[in-house]
This record gives sequence, C-alpha cells and structure tokens, in this order.
Amino acid sequence: MLTLADIERMTREDGEGWGYAHVRRVLKLAAAIGADLDYDHEAFDWAVHLHDWGAFPRYRQPGVDHALRSRQIAECDILPQTALSARQAALILDAIEKHDYRDERPVETAEALVLREADFLDFLGVIGMAREFAWGPNNLQTCYERILARRNAVRARFTLPVAQQIAVQRLETMQWALERLLEESFGDL
Ligand SMILES: [Fe+2]
Ligand SMILES: [Fe+2]
Repeated sequence: MLTLADIERMTREDGEGWGYAHVRRVLKLAAAIGADLDYDHEAFDWAVHLHDWGAFPRYRQPGVDHALRSRQIAECDILPQTALSARQAALILDAIEKHDYRDERPVETAEALVLREADFLDFLGVIGMAREFAWGPNNLQTCYERILARRNAVRARFTLPVAQQIAVQRLETMQWALERLLEESFGDL
C-alpha cells in the first residue's frame, strides 16, 4: 500500500527542483484560501501532491496535456495501490484534471476549487516571476512576456474571497517589481 509519505518522497525525487516546493506552497495557500470551506483534507493533500506529476520528466508525454497526464498516472498507477475510498479517488482525479488555469470548465467540488485557485496564486507575485525566470530560457524578454501572459490569464479567475485578497496584493507587488525590472534594464531585457 502506498501512503502519503511515499507520495511526498516520490514528489521530491521526481519533481526536479520545483515540484515538491510548489506542492508545499500550494498546501499553505490552500489552508489560507479554503479555511472556511468544508472539504476532504486527506483527499485534497493527495490531489495537491499528484497534480503536476504529468509535467515531471519521469512521466510527461509530448503532446499530452500535463493535467490529463497527471490524472492518468494517479488513476492507473497510484490510487489503486492506496487505502483511499472510491469517493476520495473520484475527488482527487477530478481536482487534478481540472487544476490548470487554461481549463475553463467550472469545478463542482471544494477540493477542485481550492486546488485550482491555490495553484493560480503561485503564478502571481515575486514567487510567480521567479518561477518563470527559473523555467527559462536564458532570455529575459521571453520570460517577461510569459510572466505578463500568465498574469493576464489568471488575474480574473479567482472566486474565493481570501484568494481574491491575496491576488490583489500579489498583483500590486508584481506591478511594482515589473516596473523596476524595466527601469533597471533601461529597456534592454
Ligand atoms: Fe499544473
Ligand atoms: Fe501546479
């Protein structure tokens, strides 16, 4: 039987430099934005750990959307080896499949909503910018343009009140930081 401790270890081992730290941040953001919601915390923790496995080198497949790939891995390889209930497995798979900001489908569970909005928040603020620069390539202009595109795509997607508050703060910080970036680069990024 696989336990959450096994999944934590596997996320650390297979998640390159970013996977596990991103999970830890999403869990903290989720605790803040979902504090008033009633949801299955055990199922949620599994969903957070597994939600990006489809983007890890060990599992990713060219041409397959990473959220869908993460769902496949959870459904076929991981969840059948756990003691989670069928109801929890269904919650986890749905939350994983719909987490990405490019997925416009509405979500029907609190687990999926909290995962999605916590994940959106990790694209904003200085942390969101740092993630984009770490992603590369070593071309600041390219990273800068991706920062703006990602920010513009997620900024209006928040529905949970605390997520909206955190988003407002992060957007302000980001605006300030982006202005400094342009100023200090004299227009030559
Ligand atoms: Fe993702
Ligand atoms: Fe993510």
